[in-house]
Amino acid sequence: MSNSRIPGFYRLSTKERFDIVTKGCNLSENEINSLSGEYPLSMDLADSMIENVIGQIGIPVGVATNFKINGKDTFIPMATEEPSVVAAASNAAKAAYELGGFFTSMSGTIMRGQIQVLNIADPYAARAKIFEHKEEILNYCNEKDPTLVSLGGGAKDLEVHIIPTTNQIMLVIHLIVDTKDAMGANAVNTMAEAVTPTIETITGGKVVLRIISNLADRRLVRARAVFSSEALGGKEIVENIVSAFEFADFDPYRAATHNKGIMNGISAVVLATGNDTRAVEAGAHAYASISGHYKSLTKWEINADGNLSGTIELPMAVGIVGGATKTHPVAQAALKIMRVSTAEELAGCIAAAGLAQNAAALRALSAEGIQRGHMSLHARNLAVMAGADKSDVDRIVAQAIKEKDLRYDRILEITQSIQRGE
Ligand code: MEV
Repeated sequence: MSNSRIPGFYRLSTKERFDIVTKGCNLSENEINSLSGEYPLSMDLADSMIENVIGQIGIPVGVATNFKINGKDTFIPMATEEPSVVAAASNAAKAAYELGGFFTSMSGTIMRGQIQVLNIADPYAARAKIFEHKEEILNYCNEKDPTLVSLGGGAKDLEVHIIPTTNQIMLVIHLIVDTKDAMGANAVNTMAEAVTPTIETITGGKVVLRIISNLADRRLVRARAVFSSEALGGKEIVENIVSAFEFADFDPYRAATHNKGIMNGISAVVLATGNDTRAVEAGAHAYASISGHYKSLTKWEINADGNLSGTIELPMAVGIVGGATKTHPVAQAALKIMRVSTAEELAGCIAAAGLAQNAAALRALSAEGIQRGHMSLHARNLAVMAGADKSDVDRIVAQAIKEKDLRYDRILEITQSIQRGE
């Protein structure tokens, strides 16, 4: 697939879309069956993923079109229950496409594991002793994961933080681990737990918590794009978008919703690829408040040509090996559709989706509002709930929109009247 711009893509049948997107992706039969919904996850696989399994819930996977990322056209698979998200991302990506699309970079694939040490009378001396034993601690951690080390990853460094809480002074050691293409929670937690006796011997304290930090501030992804002013609706709308960003950057009530819109795009790709949505969400919101004020994850400016220039920066702890990313056939299919072969490339696609999602939301909010775009999808959902035949849905939606009446009761009446042949 060398072109992600497919006019009228949304009007095609699901089968036609499936064929276009998966052509040349080399999906296995299992991946094809799972992605198409023909044969969802096997109960055995579901049962091996979590406990007390009794069933599954299907979430639609759509693909956002029009994305060009680092010069490569890419379909972006998005798993979401929210209408308008996929369409909005595709529309915003279209406004960036002719101006070069999205460009991304990553600060590294480093995660932090935290080891909490209590009952230390002289924390500064304990801190110094930890550094004296740094090589020994790192070597011990690396013995626990020879595979990661053979790939160039592993425990690379230590930080020691002294945290004065209300009741005591804690020593908190950060294991700095390069987890490469893995999200890294298993590797980091294993190392942090295994090294406990060594830490207790060195410090004379008592180790209690040993766990990864989701504030992955050494695994930052960055994306930028320029969105055409003309495609967005002109100068006034572009200025309104920049004001909307400033509103979010200064007001946490607005920033929460602004960043929620960004996460509509980000979490949808994270979920489609079998990654941990909660880890990414926790990292994003913690990073948004790292200055002491909860702020926007994006920045919006008007460039010298009058076009809208956007950037996003946030922690992105996602992997392409391990856990559901490897076992879930839809997650595998999603990675193949994006043609990503490293966690870094995946993180770039996710950041681009988040930036596009924010551009689309701010554009709609700065112009006609978001309800217009939501209306027809909302009406479609209601028509399906009312028991409409697939072939009648368009007619029912058109009638409800014409009447500007999207109450379920009215859509039910229209559906029943069509079913009665009226
Ligand atoms: C709705 O899911 C997301 C928005 O509220 C985001 C925003 O307000 O920026 C539209």
